[in-house]
Amino acid sequence: MNMTRRRFPIVLSTLAVMVTACTSANPGTSTGGAPQAAGTNGTIAIGVGVAQTSNVALLGQEQVAGAKIAEKYFNDKGGINGTPIRLVLQDTAGDEQGAINAFQSLINQGKVAGIVGPTLSQQAFSADPIADRAKVPVIGPSNTAKGIPQIGDFVARVSAPVTVVAPNSVKAALKLNPNIKKVAVFYAQNDAFSKSETEVFQQTVKDQNLELVTVQKFQTTDTDFQTQATAALNLKPDLVIISGLAADGGNLVRQLRELGYQGLIIGGNGLNTSNIFPVCKALCDGVLIAQAYSPETPNDINKAFRDAYVAQYKKEPPQFSAQAFTGIQVFVDALKELDKTAKVTQKPLPDLRVALNQQLLQGKYTTPLGEISFTPEGEIVQKDFYVAQIKMDPDGNNGKFTFLK
Ligand code: ALA
Repeated sequence: MNMTRRRFPIVLSTLAVMVTACTSANPGTSTGGAPQAAGTNGTIAIGVGVAQTSNVALLGQEQVAGAKIAEKYFNDKGGINGTPIRLVLQDTAGDEQGAINAFQSLINQGKVAGIVGPTLSQQAFSADPIADRAKVPVIGPSNTAKGIPQIGDFVARVSAPVTVVAPNSVKAALKLNPNIKKVAVFYAQNDAFSKSETEVFQQTVKDQNLELVTVQKFQTTDTDFQTQATAALNLKPDLVIISGLAADGGNLVRQLRELGYQGLIIGGNGLNTSNIFPVCKALCDGVLIAQAYSPETPNDINKAFRDAYVAQYKKEPPQFSAQAFTGIQVFVDALKELDKTAKVTQKPLPDLRVALNQQLLQGKYTTPLGEISFTPEGEIVQKDFYVAQIKMDPDGNNGKFTFLK
């Protein structure tokens, strides 16, 4: 059965080239499963499979913004040596099945060269294996759980892992308040990233000789945290650390403050968005969050990205937008490199996907995140990390991330 299916497209491949050459009005149409040439519709398609709906869109909409800025930026610069890129956006929503469906659609209907996505590690562990089996390169733009690049040969990420990023915020908290002794940790037990991040936070607490007084669990779907917050505050912590996502995390911050907690709060990577501001409003003030991006990164491409973002959104670009931009950039730079030896538009799509995966892992990239490259496994190698503190206006309507020195 497999044999028959494999032989068929080879026979048809010549025909496919003829058909697409004759149907320029609808050049994206493929015939009977034949391997489609990568640029048959005059563009190279790059998939963006992130959460555009559900609570996870609090993160995903920043990713769409970054990817779209990248599409315009690189096309204005001539795309892939003259061939424009075209983003194919597919909403994953917030769960695993949504991510699986989106990835299948991008791979089979979208005919994309590679995929930037999904938003959550929880989704990546389900959806990435599908792309890996189809030999379609995936760049995780925000998946920070341990084990993401190890999902398969076709999976890389531009989002530095929890092991590298999370400890920075604990060190920053200790700098702000050297008297911290007791730490309460909260995490979302139904989320792979939150489980991974809390392990790193808990280890860092021990490494810093602090006392871990309690570990409280919740669900990313929870809205009421009274039980866990009260239990933790009874133990009089000087620092609270939260690993969750934006809506739940923002609500937990708000309820801790409403219950009278006045110490420092660290939010993990899932809270790293100004979209938590409407959730905890003035009570978001002071939350510390480690950053894998700084708007001040001193290179030309970050300046161009930052200017474009500020012009459109009237605020500094957030980490999730910068990482999504970077994901698109890695594909573009790698495609340009491949194109130097043989036109990428003329390669059959399956061949291009495999070549693109090999190429992207070899490159060095100057990005809004600074200089990056990848390990052979697809883990990002990045130099600079930061910590920001949320500063809210007293009325709670506006706020910003202030980077600590
Ligand atoms: N960093 C979060 C995750 O990996 C968004 O799921």
